[in-house]
Amino acid sequence: MALVRACSVGEVPVGGALRVRVHDREIAIVNLGEQGFRAVDAVCSHAHAYLDEGEVDLDEGAIECPKHGSTFDLDTGRPLTLPATRPVRVFEVKVDDDDVLIEVNEG
Ligand code: FES
Repeated sequence: MALVRACSVGEVPVGGALRVRVHDREIAIVNLGEQGFRAVDAVCSHAHAYLDEGEVDLDEGAIECPKHGSTFDLDTGRPLTLPATRPVRVFEVKVDDDDVLIEVNEG
């Protein structure tokens, strides 16, 4: 596991999400404001849709898939609502000054 720079803090507004590519994975970086940043697989576990294009729910710490509306818990990656039933992967996030770093497998 290695820490990799995903983006800068300023690139992701509070309540927003940014899709980044790290080691050939597409990852959604989400800014939950005072709760910090989260990182999950950008591609929904149900079909091909980008979660970073969905709505972020700051109160629930969740993101809604724009295609069929499943919401995913950003701490666990688990779907909170149907139709998705499988979790998306979550990644450890650290903020170092202006850098958002995530922990991913190399290669
Ligand atoms: S593609 Fe995300 S819920 Fe269907």
